Amino acid sequence: MDVRGLLFISCKFLLFFSGLCYATIDTISPSKSLSEGRTLVSRDGTFELGFFSPGSSKNRYLGIWYKKIPVQTVVWVANRLNPINDSSGMLMINGTGHLVLMSQNTSVVWSANLTKQVSSSVVVQLLDTGNLVLRDEQNGDLGAYLWQSFDYPSDTLIAEMKLGWDLRNGFERRISAWRSPDDPSPGDFSWGIEKQENPEIIMWKGSKKVYRSGPWNGIGFSGAPELRPNPVFRYNFVSNEEEVYYMFNATSRSAISRIVMNETSNVRERFVWNEENQSWKLYASVPRDRCDTYGLCGSYGVCILSASPICQCLEGFQSRSVESMDWSQGCIRNKPVNYSKADGFIKFDGLKLPDATHSSVNKSMNIKECREKCLEKSSCMAYTASDIRGGGSGCTMWFGDLIDMKQFSAGGQDLYIRMSASEIGANDEKKTTLIIVFTTIAVVAGVLSLIVGYYIHKNKGNLVGNVIQSAMSERTECNQGSSHKKDDSKEDLELPLFELDTISNATDNFSSNKKLGEGGFGPVYKGTLLDGQEIAVKRLSKISGQGLNEFKNEVILIAKLQHRNLVKLLGCCIEGDEKMLIYEFMPNKSLDAFIFDQTRCKVLDWSKRFQIICGITRGLLYLHQDSRLRIIHRDLKASNVLLDHEMNPKISDFGLARTFGGEQSEGNTKRVVGTYGYMAPEYATDGLFSVKSDVFSFGILMLEIISGKKNRGFYHPDHNLNLIGYAWKLWKEGKPLELIDSALGDQSCNLSEVIRCIHISLLCVQQYPEERPNVSSVVVMLHSENVLPEPKQPGFLMDRKSQGPDPSSGKAESSSTNEITISLLEAR
Ligand SMILES: *[C@@H]1O[C@H](CO)[C@@H](O)[C@H](O)[C@H]1NC(C)=O
Ligand SMILES: *[C@@H]1O[C@H](CO)[C@@H](O)[C@H](O)[C@H]1NC(C)=O
Repeated sequence: MDVRGLLFISCKFLLFFSGLCYATIDTISPSKSLSEGRTLVSRDGTFELGFFSPGSSKNRYLGIWYKKIPVQTVVWVANRLNPINDSSGMLMINGTGHLVLMSQNTSVVWSANLTKQVSSSVVVQLLDTGNLVLRDEQNGDLGAYLWQSFDYPSDTLIAEMKLGWDLRNGFERRISAWRSPDDPSPGDFSWGIEKQENPEIIMWKGSKKVYRSGPWNGIGFSGAPELRPNPVFRYNFVSNEEEVYYMFNATSRSAISRIVMNETSNVRERFVWNEENQSWKLYASVPRDRCDTYGLCGSYGVCILSASPICQCLEGFQSRSVESMDWSQGCIRNKPVNYSKADGFIKFDGLKLPDATHSSVNKSMNIKECREKCLEKSSCMAYTASDIRGGGSGCTMWFGDLIDMKQFSAGGQDLYIRMSASEIGANDEKKTTLIIVFTTIAVVAGVLSLIVGYYIHKNKGNLVGNVIQSAMSERTECNQGSSHKKDDSKEDLELPLFELDTISNATDNFSSNKKLGEGGFGPVYKGTLLDGQEIAVKRLSKISGQGLNEFKNEVILIAKLQHRNLVKLLGCCIEGDEKMLIYEFMPNKSLDAFIFDQTRCKVLDWSKRFQIICGITRGLLYLHQDSRLRIIHRDLKASNVLLDHEMNPKISDFGLARTFGGEQSEGNTKRVVGTYGYMAPEYATDGLFSVKSDVFSFGILMLEIISGKKNRGFYHPDHNLNLIGYAWKLWKEGKPLELIDSALGDQSCNLSEVIRCIHISLLCVQQYPEERPNVSSVVVMLHSENVLPEPKQPGFLMDRKSQGPDPSSGKAESSSTNEITISLLEAR
């Protein structure tokens, strides 16, 4: 037993006998009190209650903060209105069982509002949730609290705290910002729920609405499509006869997040505690953009962030004040409605639904009944499904003018707006004429282009021929000399053959200071052709047992793979034993030179990294699906992703696995290509590869791009997990944001996008190939807001050196691999 243990025991001992040692108490009983210098600490040590002075103020307040977080973060204040100006504050249960905060022994600066009569056996306790409660000890833990701080929020909403109304007694829980960083008294900005038939979350300045969330649609709020299931918190919105509230829960005890109303601007921000950096990270803030400003575009106006001006009238409406550009005036109908059954509806989609103050909800109606009902009611202006789950159900109807709508580029909801029959007719006509016009144009254009195309083609044919002719005088085709059939010869023209002399000159005779690096298949040199073009020369080591013709054919096939996210093959060079591939030169080298470099990684902010991820996905999709060949890369990694001058990613070394060392003829075993730390479990251990093993490597690459850390050789002092294992651990603990490269620092990155990428990475590195998405699904996942499947525990969590085959033995490449290789590599 060490000294600390002894101290701890003696402390308990003292506490027991004398009450002198206040090490960790979470409860005050009637005879005790809490004065300056002492604190209550919740049982698990998460929260602490005590006296503090905010900002530069000298005033003393009683508050609750996170005990374990070194940056003092106060989540609740008792005496917001009545500061104590000395150190005489004392929290106690007085003779009548009330919880009071006294100063100078005599004056009550704050007291807990009790509605019930209390007995003498009340105690006050700070719970692990951060809730300070007053309860009757005789009722044990069962009785409802006589009072709880969660009912009287300050500027912060923490997990398990309800925001909203208890409709049974009309009690409201609303968040209000501090007046200033030095003054916790309630300021102008507040956040709560509007009590109405179709409740919404509202932010106010004074009594003026400045933001609304849009009504709840069963999944989220109509105006907050980014609120989706996530690993940091779960959320819940309850609206029934008894209560209406919003609440969130942490997904795990270590996922600490809080929502705070800012005191200086009308912003509500969710912060997540980042243990790695020991700082709060901004997760999301509301309002998100100008279009979130309440009623910015007036009635029947819709806010479209990408439009200019951002306020537009809905179809069928026109601006009320064209000259003044005063959008708050809103829009008026082109044609008046009848307010009879003769009217109809126009469907709008992708919207934040309008202000629901004057709306009603009927959960049992379907959308057809909803339409009929709305038509019947002369004041009904619009309707839609009240719950969007499962294709939509229920009915919401709006009465009176529609205000505060926003158009989303993705997500958003449908809304059917009442229109006069003639407007709908006019619209149809307009559309028909438009279609006719467009069709006519299309036909004319088509005919024209055919004619023009014919002439161009005739001429270009000659042109191309000429170019090839002249090219041939300097460079001979790869295929020259071999006895190929006539049909092939045309294809062969597409790949120039460079002479060894040319390449030798361009690279200063393969001088070592022209060497860019060593790839999996041999060294790479930088070269400059006589015309100034910069090239990268891959000099293949003599490992392939392939015949020359086979090699040429392979290279010609690879040369046909053209995509902006693949490095362009310019030609090849074959002379004697030498086989070389000539590529376009990428000035920014490879991705690993950026993401793993302490200083250069700062060049890549999140949006750039996201673009790189998307680019790699597109390139890989092309290899797997869209190219005429189906290519499995087999060695996708950061050093095989090159960057052009605009930092666009280009996959390199594709198709080489197919050419070299990949395919094997019977009995001729070749090595497993690939790189430790990137290989899928089934590939590393059984030599099985497929598009899904590429997806695994891609998943790791993505984790590396996000974290700036290498999967292989990843080191963390607390555990021997590799990067996948670490990402998975953080994910399970609800702290995925800690994975983010600290070089991204406090740059504003789109955290929900980052989390989505981490989520997708984890799906890509699942243990079993069939559980991984294919690349086309990854593309969809990256660009949509759809709910993603929950990842299971990934493969290869530990960095065990023994895993995988010895690359030199090639033992793992079984004959079954061979079959798979061949069938997957078949040209389509
Ligand atoms: C508070 O009361 C105690 C006795 O109850 C007394 O000794 C002390 O002087 C008082 N302090 C003040 C500041 O009045
Ligand atoms: C309010 O916003 C300002 C400026 O962004 C920031 O410095 C301050 O810490 C925020 N206040 C709270 C309570 O988060």
